Amino acid sequence: MNHGQPLSSPAAIPGDRFDVAVIGGGAAGLFCAAEAAERGLSVVVLEHANKVGKKILMSGGGRCNFTHLHASPDNYRSQNPHFCRSALAGFSPYEFLSRVEAAGIGWVEKSPGQLFCAKSAKDLLAMLLTDCEQAGVQIAVNAAVEVTTLQAPFTLRTGSRQLSAGKLVIATGGLSIPKMGASGFGLDLARAAGHAIIPTRAGLVPFTLTGRPAEEFCDLAGISTPVTLQAGAASYTDALLITHRGLSGPAVLQASSHWNAGDAITINWLPGAQLDDLLTAKGSHRQLSLHKWLAQQLPDRLAQRLVERSGGDCNLQQSSNATLAQRLQALQSWSLKPSGTEGYRTAEVTEGGIATDEVSSKTLESRRVSGLHFIGEVLDVTGELGGYNFQWAWASAMACARAL
Ligand code: FDA
Repeated sequence: MNHGQPLSSPAAIPGDRFDVAVIGGGAAGLFCAAEAAERGLSVVVLEHANKVGKKILMSGGGRCNFTHLHASPDNYRSQNPHFCRSALAGFSPYEFLSRVEAAGIGWVEKSPGQLFCAKSAKDLLAMLLTDCEQAGVQIAVNAAVEVTTLQAPFTLRTGSRQLSAGKLVIATGGLSIPKMGASGFGLDLARAAGHAIIPTRAGLVPFTLTGRPAEEFCDLAGISTPVTLQAGAASYTDALLITHRGLSGPAVLQASSHWNAGDAITINWLPGAQLDDLLTAKGSHRQLSLHKWLAQQLPDRLAQRLVERSGGDCNLQQSSNATLAQRLQALQSWSLKPSGTEGYRTAEVTEGGIATDEVSSKTLESRRVSGLHFIGEVLDVTGELGGYNFQWAWASAMACARAL
């Protein structure tokens, strides 16, 4: 199957007038383009990178966690939490799944509701590109776009070509991973159209450590263990991964979206453990040390480090129950101050974006400029980790395509 990379250069676009121009060839843009074209509209996708769908390919470790079966508005953050309701209700994860199955793509459910491609994210991108091709969508890569008229009929310039379109769909995504093509284009255009922007910041992003916490942990890079991690009012039980620069893994990425610079986070290294477990071990093994007990539940080097940094090793039988309670308490409420996050360089998403109060939740159309639509991550709608962000891309794209 042709992944269409690159499909055409800007100069190769035949014909200048389109019903719909979609700026941004990512998840939302490609899906919206195919759906609109299937409804009989002439559609062009303008992508400034050298390939479309780069984030799809790199997502989910190369296997794209393309939806979450239980996605509901509660899984999304926004200044207006109700905004995503209509689009999500109009196109469910099961409807997207049926597209995936119809395309013959195998999938796996890694944790309840979290669906990945069985083989490769390439299959999903190929599905979107096949749909675009069959519906007659024209895709231009390496197409740096300038919008020269910001009202219908919209006029755009890319290279030496001028295009016009009755409707303009902005699907340029968030700010994360500039290397993959992320840009502030959509936010700037929305601002120019008079829309407010909810301040943006990197979300679902690893923490960096410096100073003492870095000395304590970074040489253990590669170690991963389940923890309960608390940042602000949010708490997640999932894997934590120690890296050369700090902390990553699903628990960290999720907590990062609730973390404010300067705040401490709290790590429970033994999420399931009770004092009774420790006292039972004390009663049954004469020679057992705290380190040895901890190493039964955590990677040995991490167990050793945590014991060293929380008062040193001790023999369980020679320790009072009160002392053991204190030691366990320290391991279950480990406070640590990240120095920052890895920022947009590696963040999976951008929190904030175009304020939704002047965008229709049903059609994704601007209330300021008729015919202008915003879909996907460029809007102030951010999903949790687990396939929710792609589900928003598909659902918002579908709502928009139906309205076009
Ligand atoms: P997306 O970013 O997909 O597409 C925007 C497109 O617009 C890009 O192709 C970009 O190059 C283009 N563009 C930008 N500026 C432009 C301009 N000026 N002119 C023309 N084109 C322009 N989510 C999830 O649900 N499950 C997962 O497994 C993952 N995994 C994951 C891993 C990593 C490493 C990242 C970075 C992100 C994820 N995500 C994820 C998040 C998910 O990738 C993201 O939410 C969606 O891709 C958003 O879809 P959009 O179409 O809105 O933007």
